[in-house]
Amino acid sequence: MKKGNNKTVWTFLFICVVMLAGCSTPEKETVALKDAYQGKFLMGAALNVDQIEGRDRAGVEIVKHHFNSITAENCMKSMYLQPKEGEFFFEEADRFVEFGEANGMHMVGHTLIWHSQAPDWFFTDEEGNDVSRDVLIERMRNHITTVVGRYKGRIHGWDVVNEAILEDGTYRNSKFYSIIGEEYIPLAFEFAHEADPDTELYYNDYGMGLEGRRNGVVSMVKSLQEKNIPIHGIGMQGHMGLGYPDINEYEKSIQAYSELGLTVMITEMDIIVLPFPSSDVTAEVSLSYEYQQEMNPYTDGLPEPVATVWEEQYVDFFKLFLKHHDKISRVTLWGVSDATSWRNDWPMQGRMDYPLLFDRDYQPKPVVNELIKLGKEQ
Ligand code: G3I
Repeated sequence: MKKGNNKTVWTFLFICVVMLAGCSTPEKETVALKDAYQGKFLMGAALNVDQIEGRDRAGVEIVKHHFNSITAENCMKSMYLQPKEGEFFFEEADRFVEFGEANGMHMVGHTLIWHSQAPDWFFTDEEGNDVSRDVLIERMRNHITTVVGRYKGRIHGWDVVNEAILEDGTYRNSKFYSIIGEEYIPLAFEFAHEADPDTELYYNDYGMGLEGRRNGVVSMVKSLQEKNIPIHGIGMQGHMGLGYPDINEYEKSIQAYSELGLTVMITEMDIIVLPFPSSDVTAEVSLSYEYQQEMNPYTDGLPEPVATVWEEQYVDFFKLFLKHHDKISRVTLWGVSDATSWRNDWPMQGRMDYPLLFDRDYQPKPVVNELIKLGKEQ
């Protein structure tokens, strides 16, 4: 072959390689997480509004490829659904449900009764005073009935009550608790069941590996069961950091909740690498600390040794989930990409954290293949 022809062939081959590389997206090249864990548990992700509305196209592609369960990260909270009494805003929640249906996904409604992100009007009268017990019960009934009723037969499970038990096992002194008493919990479950008798009903909380909260949740659930109040599952949120929670205590909780005859779900998993600005590590959403540069050490990328420890923790917890896959029905990540994780802004705004399975460029981190390998091996 002549020298000139050789050059043409090499140029042609080079162009083909470049075109092939451009056609593929790295996350598509991997087996899907949901397929690796098929028959074990559902793999879920929380969707933000940009994903629900289709603006975050890269995020949407990851969700469609890797996940078979979705949870609304924010748009089904009461302050967004019913910002004023009787004025419901369902647009984003409707899009969420349509997205799930179009993609054949399991869907979780999050969350009906939560002390946080509830609009002020819920608890006060025209003068700004606390409403009576009866009025608050009626407002709860109306909110739950309207929301659950709208998606009857479409949402597979609801986080009915969120974060009602404290670390020492006592009830959180929320407005729901101070005005109604602990009966607000059974009432919420009853209202949800009446609105959609076929949907699953969950209690969801953070720090669920802690012994005090575990005991409090177990005794609260037993009291529901004694009254024949329908409850089907326990959500262990799973907001973690390097070295916490204690995996053995976490396992004890999986067992304890399962022994109640309920399905266990890991509902909001993420593992941060950034230091927590207080010795009391929690997921209490009302916490807020002033930005400090020294609390934001990885703005130029995550050092390899830290990434390794982080990855090992994900693998260790997934090994635990696989060991108990007979008890666990779903593992949901609280977000898709590090770029949009809530953990960049909580409890300190403007930091750069690395909590999720997909990086800021929406590329799968090496841990994705590790988790896929693990799921397929079992
Ligand atoms: O939508 C507004 C936007 O219009 C405004 O410009 C911007 C300015 O701050 O705020 C936006 O709202 C934020 C919202 O997330 C949507 O991004 C709120 O400030 C912010 O407080 C809210 O944070 C959410 C938090 O719950 C409180 O509702 C997080 O995204 C969400 O991940 C987090 O999720 C909770 C679970 O529901 C329950 N378990 C704990 C978990 C973490 O707190």
